[in-house]
Amino acid sequence: MDTRLLKPDPAGIDQAARLLQAGQLVAVPTETVYGLAADALNPTAVASIFAAKGRPMDNPLIVHIAAIEDWAPLVESIPTTARRLAEAYWPGPLTMILPAAPCIPQEVRGGLQTVAVRFPADPVAQAVILRTGRPLAAPSANRSGSPSPTNAARVMEDMQGRIAAILDGGRAEVGVESTVLDLSVQPPRLLRPGGITPKMIEEIIGPIAIDPAVTHALEKGAVAASPGMKYKHYAPKARIQLIKGSPAAYAHYVQAHAAHGVMALCFDEDIPTLSVPTVSYGSRQNPIQQAQNLFDALRQLDEKGATTVFAACPRPEGIGLAVYNRLIRAAGFDVVNAIRVVGLTGPTGAGKSTAAAAWREMGIPIIDTDLLAREIVQPGSPCLEELQKTFSCAILNPDGTLNRTALAEHAFSSPEKTKQLNAITHPAILALAQQKTDDAAEAGYSAIVVDAPLLFEAGIDAVCDDIVAVIAPEEKRIERIRARDGLSYEQAISRIHAQQTDDFYCRPGVTVLHNTGTQEELKQQAVTLWKNMEKGWWPTG
Ligand code: TXA
Ligand code: MG
Repeated sequence: MDTRLLKPDPAGIDQAARLLQAGQLVAVPTETVYGLAADALNPTAVASIFAAKGRPMDNPLIVHIAAIEDWAPLVESIPTTARRLAEAYWPGPLTMILPAAPCIPQEVRGGLQTVAVRFPADPVAQAVILRTGRPLAAPSANRSGSPSPTNAARVMEDMQGRIAAILDGGRAEVGVESTVLDLSVQPPRLLRPGGITPKMIEEIIGPIAIDPAVTHALEKGAVAASPGMKYKHYAPKARIQLIKGSPAAYAHYVQAHAAHGVMALCFDEDIPTLSVPTVSYGSRQNPIQQAQNLFDALRQLDEKGATTVFAACPRPEGIGLAVYNRLIRAAGFDVVNAIRVVGLTGPTGAGKSTAAAAWREMGIPIIDTDLLAREIVQPGSPCLEELQKTFSCAILNPDGTLNRTALAEHAFSSPEKTKQLNAITHPAILALAQQKTDDAAEAGYSAIVVDAPLLFEAGIDAVCDDIVAVIAPEEKRIERIRARDGLSYEQAISRIHAQQTDDFYCRPGVTVLHNTGTQEELKQQAVTLWKNMEKGWWPTG
């Protein structure tokens, strides 16, 4: 079959409509991506879409209309919420799922009882639908699994010889597929983010649910609300890894992994910081542009022969959520947090919190493990349950919260018991610290500090890129502890002697801050040390 390229003029539209009426496949432009259209009410025509795309038959199609009145015959009924959304955002990049009318072929529904309908904004798409006089089923016009096409040439790459014609309407304006909202459930559920953002939907109909698969891999064995979400998608041939973290952290990560075939899918602003070949998908500040460019950028990477691609992570907000959703699928959920984790430790009274305060004032996020230790034993937490099993219910207050004094009495009564306590709490603290580190990477921080008196004991050192220990002469510590905790000289000494010696902290690979001067001096030392560490991390930035 020779695939004809049609112009978006009356003759081209007429030709496209005649082919569609005859049960043929025609790729048509829409404002989101190009669609591979067939008469939605002709089961044979619809079946040939699946063949042309290599698409699994259980993945349902979107039905496109070009007049609001054409919606009602396709669905059982239209609830007020759906009506109001249509008034607000149709024509436009919003697809709504409702229980299907009997006229909808099985092939369109992928065996489900519902049907997805959309009224595209693109005038050429509207003209073809009206001229054909039928609703058109149209998935994105790529081979299944490949990035969706945003111009006619990209459709030709995938579909030459497989379909009757391509209507060339220039470049798709939005660049990512429509928002898919399931209104057959309560509350309505976002299945796929797109140009119409959750906020825009909630402004019209109130709170909606966001399907977990929008941002996360489906759990093994889970049933996808939208069959399309279970397949690997939008992926070029190269292996893609999504890198979260600050621009500096991203650049550092890419540079550290530079090799033959490695390329960066980055933002415009990253280009000067990288020495590997780059393909930009827009400005870091401009999610609309990122959406427009993403799919074409993915295809360019293949053309340039990339084997491994490190992708800079977009902010998952507004339309950026759609960009993030496509990219994380293109990456097969392979995500790396490029954030520097600095462990801060030292014996009591040596000045650890002063160093932490200096860094906090520089805007660096600090994880305080003393606070984590409280967070992990909230009522109902697995950790508290575990402690209860091990140390009996006597460790609880009447209101179900943890009685720390009672726990201390039980747990420190023998070395064996202390070991049991640590075996429960330390892994939980480590896991929570890692979760907070991930959150910080996602928020775009380049580094984070984990302030942990028991850094080595709890195994947190294993996840640190750098470790800083603050130590001080014994006399100075006694003075500080007495002032801080109101202890006698003897009490302060016995507390110090119950702890690890300085040697314990001063290990190879640990940077030691000697606190011998004033508090201000220690802060200055901490600031200088930080700046030096940073220079080592980001030699390019
Ligand atoms: O912007 C778009 O929506 C483009 C243009 C061409 O309109 N079309 C598009 O279609 O992206 P497609 O087939 O590539 O993606 C449709 C998505 C799939 O993830 C599919 O599983 C889901 O919508 N879907 C369709 N009908 C559904 C239904 N009844 N229930 C749940 N999910 C459905
Ligand atoms: Mg698709």
